Amino acid sequence: MSHWYEKSFGEDYLLVYKHRSKQDASFEVSQIIEWINLTKEDFILDLCCGTGRHTLNFANQGYNIMGMDLSEVLLSYAVHERDNHGVPFIHGDMRHLPFVANSFDVVLNLFTSFGYFQCDGDNQKVLTEMARVLKPNGRFFIDYLNRDAVIDNLVPESSRQEGETYIKEKRRIEGNSVIKDITIVDHKGQREYLEHVKMYTIDQMKEMLDKAGLTIEHAFGNFSGASYSVDSERMIMMGSKQTR
Ligand SMILES: C[S@@+](CC[C@H](N)C(=O)[O-])C[C@H]1O[C@@H](n2cnc3c(N)ncnc32)[C@H](O)[C@@H]1O
Repeated sequence: MSHWYEKSFGEDYLLVYKHRSKQDASFEVSQIIEWINLTKEDFILDLCCGTGRHTLNFANQGYNIMGMDLSEVLLSYAVHERDNHGVPFIHGDMRHLPFVANSFDVVLNLFTSFGYFQCDGDNQKVLTEMARVLKPNGRFFIDYLNRDAVIDNLVPESSRQEGETYIKEKRRIEGNSVIKDITIVDHKGQREYLEHVKMYTIDQMKEMLDKAGLTIEHAFGNFSGASYSVDSERMIMMGSKQTR
């Protein structure tokens, strides 16, 4: 049986998340550059890069970056982008990074690309892999959902029309996960997708990151720069690899 994340990031994902634009990515990239003091010498990995909307923005500004993702469909958009600067886009699973240890100065994980595995050990593996491929003192940046805000603001059901396509999204909390059932109907028929994201608290993230050898140095609550609090819109964690 295939897992939800193997099925849910194809062509229809681009339709459902059409509003998450290159424009948003551009603002986020400018904040990341400033917050982590990114330099042109840094070698960056955009882990779970999707169509490369952040990756290519960094590359456009002269940063040295590569992207990695599991979705061949989304990666093909990144590769065929008109202005792709020869950025390498690698196919792989975030639990098993195809890079040798100490390769990167910075690893980014953006727009809720964490918590995808039901088993905590698999989510831990992602952080352990991030730490392994980071150089000593290398920096990480994770833009993740904020559990309390998700629970407090959950809209159980919504629907919309995108041109000829009808999109229905049903959301629920089950244990520590937020689950979204997506139905898409168009002239080709009806398709169903699932999103299943484990919601860790900041203390749980600190513990998992620490176990991986990573330390949070600052947590933001949104991309405008508010500090993190339990009711923040997002949980944006940045920090570095511990030198042991
Ligand atoms: C919410 S999207 C974010 C994409 C991109 N960071 C952005 O902001 O547009 C999550 C991404 O994680 C990728 N993904 C899902 N499971 C993965 C896995 N096991 N290993 C690597 N990438 C995965 C998906 O294909 C998708 O591109």
